[in-house]
Amino acid sequence: MKKYRFAILGTGRIAATFAKALSEVSEAEFYAVGSRTKQKADAFAEKFGAVKSYGSYEELADDKDIDAVYIATPMSCHFDNAMLCINKGKHILCEKSVSLDSRQLDIMLKAAAEKELLFMEAMWTKCRPVYIKVLDWIRQGRIGKVKYVKADFNNLVRYDRSDRLFAPELGGGALLDLLVYPLTLSSDVFGEYPESVTSAANIGKDGVDLSNAVILKYKNGFAALSSGFEVPNNNNALISGEKGSIIFSDWFFCTSEAALYDRNGSEIERINIPDEINGYEYEIREFCRCLDKGLKESTLVPHSSTKTVMKIMDKCRSDWNMQYPDENVIKM
Ligand SMILES: NC(=O)c1ccc[n+]([C@@H]2O[C@H](COP(=O)([O-])OP(=O)(O)OC[C@H]3O[C@@H](n4cnc5c(N)ncnc54)[C@H](OP(=O)(O)O)[C@@H]3O)[C@@H](O)[C@H]2O)c1
Repeated sequence: MKKYRFAILGTGRIAATFAKALSEVSEAEFYAVGSRTKQKADAFAEKFGAVKSYGSYEELADDKDIDAVYIATPMSCHFDNAMLCINKGKHILCEKSVSLDSRQLDIMLKAAAEKELLFMEAMWTKCRPVYIKVLDWIRQGRIGKVKYVKADFNNLVRYDRSDRLFAPELGGGALLDLLVYPLTLSSDVFGEYPESVTSAANIGKDGVDLSNAVILKYKNGFAALSSGFEVPNNNNALISGEKGSIIFSDWFFCTSEAALYDRNGSEIERINIPDEINGYEYEIREFCRCLDKGLKESTLVPHSSTKTVMKIMDKCRSDWNMQYPDENVIKM
């Protein structure tokens, strides 16, 4: 397999975590980093061992030696950042939530398809072995027909208006930051767009949701999901079927452990697959595998699943009357 040259756009929290995995995965080379300031780019490159560092995203996009760009900026920047790189012929691995809404997502996917580029949401959970194994259990009928999914992602976050989580202009709020994981799980388990989406949110003084709860009704079952910054929680996930159930341990989307129970609640099987690096290696390998095979869409993170989740989030925000500033302004 060719060693693909990756660039990281943005130098924040997740960029650092991803850079650690990137520098250890044999299929990829951490080639370049781009920041809004040259100083930050240089420091990041030095810390994680990138060859090139750029003081603007535009300069990074102009580098013809880069194969793929990992976008690690706040949600409101994803669209502009991805379009910049797509227009320069770069394959895109874009952090969750990939865009503010479905309209932006559709434009990005169309642009990537026109340029014959791979576009994948960096939904790392879906590439982790434990998650794949759980979906296998369900496909094999180990818990029978699934009737119910319960998944939460709540944690206590101290209010800080300068943090992207609380900033409407950066696409803040629990929905795009946290609920995207429970929604992804529910969509993977039921495999369809729900018949109805019912939700409520606590919208804070800055105009983003601080917490939310969502009920999805599918043809044959329900999902009850919640997320927020206001309470600590046991963030496990439960998938119940007619013959048994599956529980992902606490912090379900990043746990390496899941257990299978029969209908009496007795444990039948437990898996624990420790990460090889820090859990982000699997999405990097999946991305490289797709590049190697010339795929424009990942099989583990297909566009259809990213689109389904985004459509549900659009519906929630519409019901809450929650809009991001400039979300309808499409600059191209
Ligand atoms: N997969 C995961 O486990 C995971 C975990 C956390 C976050 N995420 C996702 O990753 C993305 C980034 O999250 P994060 O927590 O890393 O954010 P963060 O710490 O705030 O970092 C974001 C970076 O984006 C760049 N940026 C560009 N325009 C910006 C602006 N107007 N305001 C602030 N920063 C700007 C900055 O880098 P420069 O100044 O260097 O340009 C900044 O360091 C989000 O989409 C988030 O949902 C994913």
